[in-house]
Amino acid sequence: AQATRVALPAAAPPAANAAADERLTVLYGSQTGNSRRVAERLAERAAAAGLNVRLLRTGAYPVRELAQERHLVLVISSQGDGDPPDDAIGFVEFLAGKRAPKLPQLRFAVLGLGDSSYPQFCAVSRRLDARFAELGARRFAELGEADVDFEAPSASWSDGVLEKAREVLDAPATLGATGARPSLHAVSSVLQGREHPFAAEVLDNQRIVSRDSSREVRHLELSLQGSGLRYEPGDALGVWPRNPPALVGEYLRLLGLDGEQEVAHDGRRLPLARWLSQERELTKLSRPLLAAHAADGGDTELAHVLEPAQREALGRLLDTHQPIDVLRRYPVQWNAEQLVAALRPLTPRLYSIASSPKAVGEDEVHLTIAVVNYHAYGSEHAGAASSFLATAADDARVPVFVEPNERFRLPADGSRDIIMIGPGTGVAPFRAFVQERLAVGAAGRNWLFFGNRHFARDFLYQVEWQQALKDGGLDRLDLAFSRDGAAKTYVQHKLREHGRELYARLRDGAHLYVCGDATHMAKDVNEALVEVAVAHGGLSSEDARGWLTELLQEGRYARDVY
Ligand code: 2AM
Repeated sequence: AQATRVALPAAAPPAANAAADERLTVLYGSQTGNSRRVAERLAERAAAAGLNVRLLRTGAYPVRELAQERHLVLVISSQGDGDPPDDAIGFVEFLAGKRAPKLPQLRFAVLGLGDSSYPQFCAVSRRLDARFAELGARRFAELGEADVDFEAPSASWSDGVLEKAREVLDAPATLGATGARPSLHAVSSVLQGREHPFAAEVLDNQRIVSRDSSREVRHLELSLQGSGLRYEPGDALGVWPRNPPALVGEYLRLLGLDGEQEVAHDGRRLPLARWLSQERELTKLSRPLLAAHAADGGDTELAHVLEPAQREALGRLLDTHQPIDVLRRYPVQWNAEQLVAALRPLTPRLYSIASSPKAVGEDEVHLTIAVVNYHAYGSEHAGAASSFLATAADDARVPVFVEPNERFRLPADGSRDIIMIGPGTGVAPFRAFVQERLAVGAAGRNWLFFGNRHFARDFLYQVEWQQALKDGGLDRLDLAFSRDGAAKTYVQHKLREHGRELYARLRDGAHLYVCGDATHMAKDVNEALVEVAVAHGGLSSEDARGWLTELLQEGRYARDVY
């Protein structure tokens, strides 16, 4: 189960018994690919330094080998509520459980990736680091933590780990015995995409919900011509947004700063307006910003939420406020340098791709965008990327890259059935799936569960689904419009209603996909699946959960949730 995507040299052909002694195992638990990239890079550098490395994703790691493992590095991300990536669920549960072995032979190092705008920042890596120690393992490097701007902190943590690993593993100072050098190509091309996006032309940009819909959803078509970018159904498109010009103006006005003023930060010198428009996160509040605010003489009432006991209040604040709301309510005297330092770096937004290159051509990519726009605390608020995309005129350019999602793929065997659950804009990747299955003539059946507020207003891609039912792109479509009737109907109600057929298809090898809201929908859908397996498979609810965890680990139940 050597799950590497990167060619690693076999530094020294490991003798079976000596293998663990001399080997560094690098594991990653990744949801969106960031932890994977960091682990790949670390493994390649370790291999280049002559270490005997194996790189595995947590889902492919045989946990029974832990008791023999000597040197382990784990890079793992934490999702919203402090949950592990799907691929790591089994690994995390095994370690936490009673069957986890004592690990006195093990030396380990953990790096966590997370998002400090959630209160459970890096919860998974913190728990695992503590648990390894509890089982008797010794750290060869301190727990590392990286926020959304993970590249630099991850790289410097990796430096330290590599140095230690070379001491511990007694690596030769020269390159590996075979002299083989790792292929760096696979890694650098991924990084290049993100750091050097392609300026994609907007070919089409239209509203696909009716005028009276309470939420604006748009369909965008972008050109990839000349980019060399390739994608597959299931992949995401990374978009580097620009902050709304009005919001940039509001920061300058509020703090009395001049946009043309040059600001040096992180070794770069740019006009303040450019920092604010393209380099800093203006629409997401973060803990570090609040900490900087407190340190720079901000309000004590606000500083209060940073106390450990106030975790929930902090979570609510981060969820409901943008930085500008805080700065309006709790004014602080920041100069341009302080402002740039307090705001965290802008990160790209990932959108599940809504097209198959086999159907729309390799030079085109489609997206489904929910436009984030609301009134709060006396002013209008917008999402950075969605408002940027919503207002991107035909022929405008959007900086993009392809973010592969290896864990959200159609079955290699086209005769397998698929079941897709995608309410709201979660339906996007399923448009790509249906297009692809039709284009390749896959024999398996395609069943879609879609839900949204109102049939008449929010039935995204209605005409296309109806056509797909006719031409075989879909064999079943079940709909849950939540605000048309007296009682709410959600996709999970439809799952229960058709539980018998659903379970029969799953038992016969169907692949199951869920895309959309992670906090509520994906959890409720998982509960409905448990109930379906209990009702129609005769399983206890514990066994039903175990079965679903197995499906998740096998990749036959895949989630693209956010
Ligand atoms: P609501 O807004 O009427 O509550 C896409 O946003 C659709 O998902 C909407 O119809 C929305 O319904 C629905 N939705 C909201 N919460 C959900 C949940 N926990 N599970 C499934 N669907 C949900």
